[in-house]
Amino acid sequence: IPVDPFDLVIFGGTGDLARRKILPALFRRYCAGQIPSEARIVGAARAEYDDAGYRDFAAEAIREFAPGRTCEDGTLGQFLERLSYVTIDARGDTGWEDLASKLQPGRVRAFYFSVGPGLFGDLADRLHKWGVADADSRIVVEKPFGHDLASARALNHTLAAHFHESQIYRIDHYLGKETVQNLMAVRFGNMLFEPLWNAQYVDHIQITVAETVGVGGRGEYYDTAGAMRDMMQNHLMQLLCLIAMEPPARFEPDAVRDEKLKVIRALDEVLPHHIVRGQYDAAKGAEGDYPSYREAVGNPRSKTESYIALKTHVSNWRWAGTPFYLRTGKRLKARSSVISVMFKDTPHSIFGAEAGRHANVLTIRLQPNEGITLQVTIKEPGPGGMRLVDVPLDMTFAEALGPEGSDPPDAYERLIMDVIRGNQTLFMRGDEVEAAWAWTDPIIAGWVRRGEVPKPYDSGSVGPGDADLLIQRDGREWRGIV
Ligand code: BG6
Repeated sequence: IPVDPFDLVIFGGTGDLARRKILPALFRRYCAGQIPSEARIVGAARAEYDDAGYRDFAAEAIREFAPGRTCEDGTLGQFLERLSYVTIDARGDTGWEDLASKLQPGRVRAFYFSVGPGLFGDLADRLHKWGVADADSRIVVEKPFGHDLASARALNHTLAAHFHESQIYRIDHYLGKETVQNLMAVRFGNMLFEPLWNAQYVDHIQITVAETVGVGGRGEYYDTAGAMRDMMQNHLMQLLCLIAMEPPARFEPDAVRDEKLKVIRALDEVLPHHIVRGQYDAAKGAEGDYPSYREAVGNPRSKTESYIALKTHVSNWRWAGTPFYLRTGKRLKARSSVISVMFKDTPHSIFGAEAGRHANVLTIRLQPNEGITLQVTIKEPGPGGMRLVDVPLDMTFAEALGPEGSDPPDAYERLIMDVIRGNQTLFMRGDEVEAAWAWTDPIIAGWVRRGEVPKPYDSGSVGPGDADLLIQRDGREWRGIV
């Protein structure tokens, strides 16, 4: 279903995010017939481009990052006609009049702040000074949203000077992933799981987000952030919220976000011995040598973590006593993002020795191979007596849903269209972000106070050995990186 005609301005329109994600996502939605022909997309940045130059930039980005899409010949050309460019000075007056003249009355207006948070205030001021934004305009902001609680509060305050909360779309792209939305469909669209979804029946929860990539060219940013700020405070925290939250009364922005906020506020403070930090070492890989983390960021004494594993609890009636184990890291053995809901075992075995069977597990695979699997016990076929085995009840989307399932839309496709539709359900509210920082800040402050250095781990491994001990001490094992 096409969205309403809109004008979308991408500040930072020549940046990495625009190139890799925003422009390819818009193109794919155009191919899907969701973007009406009256829509206009304006790139805005400091670089000197004209419209034709920006269209070339976009075409190259789309060829590189949206390859192989079924899009009829000529569609790229039609899409590019929707694009234009203004050279703009976020801190001065250059370009703003030009930008104002490009926007059309009576359209949905969205401004994508694909720039560092240091410019949010300048952009917000100028959008108003030049009459470019109005009371219905939407702004989209990217993470990192602040560096700690104080800076996140300051950013919220800056944006609130010009925009109402209902106009602010804080992106956490994990919420746009198909399987993450499916997690809510499975939890709240089936009767099967809800009665068991609590500490009485769930032994523990694991969330793993493992990456094979290193810090790449983002060393300067990453070395001031680390895995805690870059991934744990936002992506893993959002996944935890969706697993742990109470059913909202409706699938509406504030109903969902109120419930997520309650989860974050119920999180226990994490004890120092319930956290393992790691930093990757150099390694030889198939395509050559990988530098160590410290080499990659150009800081031989860096104490920043590229890996983190921790154990926490959600202290409320539903979850008291059920540990949540979370881990994420770079340069690991495999790219694998998985949530495992580990159910308790049956209270009594009627079959005697039950080698080969385990308690039920609900596995939610975010990537790759998106899907959901429920591990159940059945009898091994054949006349060999009552031997039990585990089998997966498998809902791999590629198999269950055909081509749609095997090629799900990128998170940004869904999220940008939600901005145009005015649906904030999959975006973070200001108080959620602040609550997540309030949980993160004391953990980081503890490391700094104690001068903690992360444990080295081999690139291409599953992370530092201490992370295995963290969960093994409780008689459990990590799942998910294979
Ligand atoms: C980003 C982080 O938010 O998410 C990156 O800043 C990380 O460090 C990326 O690599 C992971 O996203 P995805 O969608 O590839 O899992």
